[in-house]
Amino acid sequence: MATRQVEVTVNTDGAVVIRPHGRVDAGVTVELRHALVEVIRHTRPPRLILDLADVEELDPLNLGVLAAACLLGDDQRVAVFVDHCSTALADELIAAGVSRLRLRHVHGPSLVRDARRLAQLLLAGLPERWRHTVGVATRAEGIVDTLPAEADAGALVAAAWLHDIGYAPQVRDTGFHPLDGGLHLRGIGWPDRVACLVAHHSEAMCIAEVWGLADRLAEFPREDTAVADALTYADQTVGPNGRVMELDERLADMLRRHGPESPNAKAHPGRAPRLREAVRRVESRQCTAA
Ligand SMILES: [Fe+2]
Repeated sequence: MATRQVEVTVNTDGAVVIRPHGRVDAGVTVELRHALVEVIRHTRPPRLILDLADVEELDPLNLGVLAAACLLGDDQRVAVFVDHCSTALADELIAAGVSRLRLRHVHGPSLVRDARRLAQLLLAGLPERWRHTVGVATRAEGIVDTLPAEADAGALVAAAWLHDIGYAPQVRDTGFHPLDGGLHLRGIGWPDRVACLVAHHSEAMCIAEVWGLADRLAEFPREDTAVADALTYADQTVGPNGRVMELDERLADMLRRHGPESPNAKAHPGRAPRLREAVRRVESRQCTAA
């Protein structure tokens, strides 16, 4: 009897997982399409996960089958996610019409590129926020020499791209953007370090306490490192339109925009000294690195 190339299992939470194996070519199309249609039309689980971890190759025909399955899932109210695909395959799936938001655990060397793409997608309707984000990511790239390791540089620049995605309407949940950004990234399977950096960027805990969201934010471990400092530095020395500015100018602008009764203003006395310290530490590391 031939070995099945498409495995179907059910998780304890009711999600169905479909795992194709090996080379997914014309010889597998019928089996794959049958499994997908059967699950989406008849089983109708709350979530269908297409786990591509074992896929060595996926031909264009089957790429189209997976893209069509995502649309069929939408029709049938089955949330379809694609897990563990390679970066190259992720690009092909996106080109075939699969939303980046469905793709989970796509990482590796392309972390920064994926972060930029996701931020651009989510902030498409917020041009001022996007210009700020571009400025912050550029600023972050310029201070990677203050970090101890290359892996830290990827985490920093990815977090810089993503740090304000919590403002996007499709990401907004609690209304506190660092927490919403972190929750979103965790939810779609980004590396937890990036989610945590986003959740805590620019001393978010000080403001979360005013919002009454400290407990929620504490679900994200806070790192106290050169990476966290560099992210704060980049964010706090770039203004709303992406213009580089001194910390004091940035803080004054922030207080003016948010208003005296805002959570930002209430958190300011405790937060500002911490921001100044982070900026000072980065500048000191820049001197050492030079
Ligand atoms: Fe920001």
